[in-house]
Amino acid sequence: MSASTNLRRLIDAATPYWAGEAEVVRTYWTSRQRTRETDRRWLARQCYKELLGFGIGGGELGLFRGPLEELRHAFPRIDVEIDRHEVLDIAAMLVAEFSHYCAFADAHDHLAGVGEPKLHPRMLASWAEEDALAQVRRQHIKDHDALGRRACQFTEGGYCSLFSEGMRLRDHPTPGHEASDRLIAAACARVYDDEFGHMLKGIAGLDEQGFAESD
Ligand SMILES: [Fe+2]
Ligand SMILES: [Fe+2]
Repeated sequence: MSASTNLRRLIDAATPYWAGEAEVVRTYWTSRQRTRETDRRWLARQCYKELLGFGIGGGELGLFRGPLEELRHAFPRIDVEIDRHEVLDIAAMLVAEFSHYCAFADAHDHLAGVGEPKLHPRMLASWAEEDALAQVRRQHIKDHDALGRRACQFTEGGYCSLFSEGMRLRDHPTPGHEASDRLIAAACARVYDDEFGHMLKGIAGLDEQGFAESD
C-alpha cells in the first residue's frame, strides 16, 4: 500500500494508541483478576459490538440490521441506481460481521458452566464506555460529515490489536487459562483477516477521498 505523506503522518500519530490497545489486552491476559466470568463478560461485549455496535457499516442499527435494511432498500434499485457490486459488498459485510458475532458467541458458550444459558442477542447490553465511544463518533459525523465518517472508519477495530493479541494466545497461552486461551485464539483467528481488510479499506481509502490539506 503506498501512502501519501499526510496519511503516513496520521498513521504515525495513531500508532501509540494502537500499541496502547495491544498492551491493555496483553495485560488482561495475565492479570490476576482474570477469571472465566471476566472472559465471558468481555466476549459478550465483543458480541455486542459485532452485532449491535454503532459504526460506519451499520449506523444506529448495528452491523446486522443496518446492512439488512440497506439490502432491502437496494433490491429494487440494483443496477438502476446502485451497482450490483456495491450491493454484493453490503451482503458480504453482513456475512462477515455476523460470522464474527458467531465466533465470539461460540467461545463465550464454550466457557459456560453447568446450567448457564447460551448467549442470545437479547442478553446483550451496551456499557458506559461503549456508549461514550458511540457518542464521540456520532458527533464526529455530525460536525464533520465525510471527514467525520473517515475518522470513525480509520479508528474502527483499533488496528486489529485485540484480534492479533488474541491469536498469539494459541502459541503463548497464559498458565491456568489454557482452555479459554485456545477458544479466544480460535475466535480471533476467524475474525482477524476480515477485520484487517476492513481496516485497510478505512485507511487506504483516505488517500482516494481527496481531502484538503487542512483536513
Ligand atoms: Fe467485526
Ligand atoms: Fe468489520
